[in-house]
Amino acid sequence: MASNAEKVSEEVQKSSIEDDEDIVNPWDVVSSSAKGVDYSKLISRDMHQILDLVEKKTGFYLYTGRGPSSESMHLGHLIPFIFTKWLQDTFDVPLVIQMTDDEKFLWKDLTIEETNKLAHENAKDIIACGFDKDKTFIFSDVEYISESTEFYKMMCKIQKLVTFNQVKGIFGFTDSDSIGKISFPAIQATPSFSSAFPQIFTGKKDVPCLIPCAIDQDPYFRMTRDVAPRLGLLKPALLHSTFFPALQGAHGKMSASDPNSSIFLTDSDEQIKTKINKYAFSGGRPTEEEHRKHGGDCDTDVSYQYLTFFMEDDDKLADIKSRYSSGEMLTGELKQELITVLQNLVGEHRKTRADVTDNLVNEYMKSRKLKFDY
Ligand code: TYM
Repeated sequence: MASNAEKVSEEVQKSSIEDDEDIVNPWDVVSSSAKGVDYSKLISRDMHQILDLVEKKTGFYLYTGRGPSSESMHLGHLIPFIFTKWLQDTFDVPLVIQMTDDEKFLWKDLTIEETNKLAHENAKDIIACGFDKDKTFIFSDVEYISESTEFYKMMCKIQKLVTFNQVKGIFGFTDSDSIGKISFPAIQATPSFSSAFPQIFTGKKDVPCLIPCAIDQDPYFRMTRDVAPRLGLLKPALLHSTFFPALQGAHGKMSASDPNSSIFLTDSDEQIKTKINKYAFSGGRPTEEEHRKHGGDCDTDVSYQYLTFFMEDDDKLADIKSRYSSGEMLTGELKQELITVLQNLVGEHRKTRADVTDNLVNEYMKSRKLKFDY
């Protein structure tokens, strides 16, 4: 007799986002095009339902996360959090942030004590984005799962419904991967269901969940969306932020192990300047003469791409685009614009983070009711 778990749904089977050119999974985001991943092929899932809820003033909650594998987060990591902060401020809803210290222990050459410590360090960077303490619960898997019966029960229910065969298909696990890795996806799926947080939702099982994240996390939530109806629960909705390219270009993912692949929140003003001048892939022409004549290519120019994320003044951005494309603005000037923007952004973050004490981190990470009544 076929069990529920064996009924692999169509959604999981068909939607491995690896077409001929782009590879998108939690470990690789590789595009064959210098313009990056083709997002028209990757759509936000069930966002219209969330918008309906907003219109009807029915509540929902936000869920996002971070895998604490190094002290320093890069600018790419910041994107979903900046976006999440905007969503929280705009819609006034609870937010849960999962710190997967267990995941990084399983995947990296780190002890579980180290990844747990990194979870607390990274929480400082996240808190420095400005999340409201009364509306935000940050949790370490290692700490919270061992104290929450309801979280663990939900995790077990998910584990029972997903087969090895399914996660092999979604994540590419092989026979020699540890069983820790194989069962981890259930842990990342669990916070998508409100019953995992009885202290916040007083046991309500049907509070809809919206997950802002970058596209590399999509496989986890395709799996989650597949099991949800089989648990009699709502599928979480997803909102993908665009993937922030490596300094060397949109072909690849930024990596903490290559310090020159990205700007880190711990970089000094001088490091920011040097990295951009030296490594930011340029869509400019080889000579000034050619550049003036033909103009630069904003679609491949990394400095311009970065400005689209962080320059708040849209008119100024449009002006830069037109002057760079026409050849009036040179690569050096474009890079200088970016250096100024990033030195300000990282400088502000550095200042705010310096005020985040261990005590404050513990307050955010304490299991408690938030400022919402359910
Ligand atoms: P992690 O720590 O690798 O990444 C944290 C968040 O940053 C996003 N991200 C990026 N966004 C834009 N441009 C980039 N270059 C870039 N690199 C990373 C990731 O998509 C993620 O949103 N397993 C997860 C932790 C996690 C999680 C979640 C993430 C647990 N539950 C729920 C999102 C939603 C991880 O290791 O993320």
